[in-house]
Amino acid sequence: MNDPKRYLITSALPYANGALHLGHLAGAYLPADIYVRYLRLLGKDVVFVCGSDEHGAAITIRAKKEGVSPKDIIDKYHELNKSSFERLGVSFDIYHRTSAALHHETAQEFFKNLYDKGGEFEEKTSEQYYDEGFDQFLADRYIVGTCPKCSHEEAYGDQCENCGSTLSPTELINPKSTLSGNVPVLRKTKHWFFKLDKHEAWLRDWIKDGILDGAKHHDPKDWKKHVIGQCLSWLDGEGGLQPRSITRDLSWGIPVPVEGGEGKVLYVWFDAPIGYISATKQWAKDNGKNWEDYWKSEDSQLLHFIGKDNIVFHCIVFPSMLKAHGDYQLPTNVPANQFLNFEGRKFSKSKGWGIEQHQYLEEFKDFPNKEDALRYALIRNMPESKDSDFRWDEFTDFHDNELVANLGNFINRVVVLMNKYYEGKVPVAVENNAFAKERAKIQTLLADYQNELEHFNFRKAVLTLMSISSEGNLYLQDVSPWKLWKTEPESQIVKNCLHNCLQIVGLLSVLTKPFLPFTAEKIRKTLQLPAIKNGDLKTILGQWETGVEIVPAEHQISEPALLFAKINDRKDTSRLALINAQKEQLAAILEADKASEREPVKPTIEFDDFTKLDIRTGTIIAAEKVAKANKLLQLKVDLGFEERTVVSGIAKFYKPEDIIGQQVLVLANLAPRKLRGILSEGMILMAEDETGKLCFVSPEKGWGNGFGVS
Ligand code: MF3
Ligand code: ZN
Repeated sequence: MNDPKRYLITSALPYANGALHLGHLAGAYLPADIYVRYLRLLGKDVVFVCGSDEHGAAITIRAKKEGVSPKDIIDKYHELNKSSFERLGVSFDIYHRTSAALHHETAQEFFKNLYDKGGEFEEKTSEQYYDEGFDQFLADRYIVGTCPKCSHEEAYGDQCENCGSTLSPTELINPKSTLSGNVPVLRKTKHWFFKLDKHEAWLRDWIKDGILDGAKHHDPKDWKKHVIGQCLSWLDGEGGLQPRSITRDLSWGIPVPVEGGEGKVLYVWFDAPIGYISATKQWAKDNGKNWEDYWKSEDSQLLHFIGKDNIVFHCIVFPSMLKAHGDYQLPTNVPANQFLNFEGRKFSKSKGWGIEQHQYLEEFKDFPNKEDALRYALIRNMPESKDSDFRWDEFTDFHDNELVANLGNFINRVVVLMNKYYEGKVPVAVENNAFAKERAKIQTLLADYQNELEHFNFRKAVLTLMSISSEGNLYLQDVSPWKLWKTEPESQIVKNCLHNCLQIVGLLSVLTKPFLPFTAEKIRKTLQLPAIKNGDLKTILGQWETGVEIVPAEHQISEPALLFAKINDRKDTSRLALINAQKEQLAAILEADKASEREPVKPTIEFDDFTKLDIRTGTIIAAEKVAKANKLLQLKVDLGFEERTVVSGIAKFYKPEDIIGQQVLVLANLAPRKLRGILSEGMILMAEDETGKLCFVSPEKGWGNGFGVS
């Protein structure tokens, strides 16, 4: 498709039951934002929609567990995520929500439309697991049991993570509800299934060859390989596509709008992508536009930005829904990203591994230009074609070596010299031919910049931006105007040089906008140029090509402003301290993790070996520190028939005075041995807790001393 009139860009609607972390940002939101900002700079008609996905079993379960209503949960996270995006410069035109009445209507109409067509849905009654304690049918993920294939005891109702088999909940041995721990019961229930199998043939042509209804729809070479690969493994997988259930027995969600649908709601993955449509409708309403121009016109291009876990829904299920409806356009591309890891591991909320968007904003609140510093680090390491890893050390390197030492440094040097030599007034260039070589070089880089952006290669695009800044630095260094200026302050060479450098800065002010929107506007302020508006890239690309000044001669610029402040700064260690604090938190988590690691079971012993151990109950009657041994306590233990001296390595965990009277188990026939000169006549049995602390293993109160343990 050549030069569409309009673009509709979507980012996956995040579930409103949790805060988003940096992995989400790098996966589906930042790349979409870069692309959208780029399109706007070219003056394109583009709408960027997103919003909260507010239905689904996960939200009701969370609400039930916390004793609040689902609405409490979604209201909280809708606001939190919306404002974090805003603060990080993700420039949605609308951040809608699927709990909105407009969305409910839109989704119901959509369902009704396919239902009325006939042939798209089928009704099936089947037996499904029901949790009587929780009073609800159980989604496959909420049932665990023993895998019938490998006997792994914690297989899920849809999949065994040990052997990788796909399962159905009824195949599990000893199924249990993860909600209550109860054994679930089978109950009959009726559901509607969307006949995906019916769509298999055209989907294959569309994904493999980019052919739709017998015509070229898109070039499959423009799609990411991993996206096509995942789609084909679905299409060509065992049994091909199967009908998918699109209704659920829940009370939270969008009521099924047909006879027999009472007490049932649309499956969250049926309604959520329709959320893109309702968001567009709302936006159009608010802005006096026609939403159908973006969804139903061949002049419009639809692009979905998502993470790889959403590929099948956006490349197979939703397109089939749109096709079945009949009058919608299909996406021309789904540039899904892979996953971002965090310091070598998966993000994990329960372990505290990772950082959420709002947390970053709070913890880095005093960090200069924190939004763009983060955006840059995420772009440089964007998981575009394979999983990647966020590391604080890399964050620091990208920041100091690239943003500070290259981009910030160039702009700062030019602005400082401009103020020093010409009080900020742009000098007129005369006989400026010496700059032709650099101009041409930058011209080539500009073509690369556009080309990479158009192909969703944002890492390469941002590096091209940096190369343009490097060109500027090299040129400035090459001419070294400060040398000449000392002896000849009126030199035309110096004037030309600064004039030219300023044109590069002007260029950079616009080129940075898609990636570093805050920086871009700071540069504009320094240059005293108006804020960037739609179409500005087109304008300056033309100016660069034809040699028209971007920052005109005689124009007055202002004093330098701080763009970035070095992290590794000897004079001000506050920023490095912030980074180090992050690293220390992670080190502490790793430490605790190590402590909680269980040791593998030792080789089997015979019963006779066990009976050799003589374990007795006892009571600590005296305790004191062992001199010069900070781990050891010297204990006196009453075993009933005698008192023993025992040296025990528990001084880190217990104070002597706190353990007098503590009942303990003692290995009484351990050969005595000398520790720090004290003869230890036995061993106290201790157990390690999950933090690595040693705890007493003691008899229940009231037992006497000296009795055996077996
Ligand atoms: N809420 C889903 C997730 O976070 C994504 C929904 S995308 C939509 O994985 F297309 F369904 F909206
Ligand atoms: Zn298994």
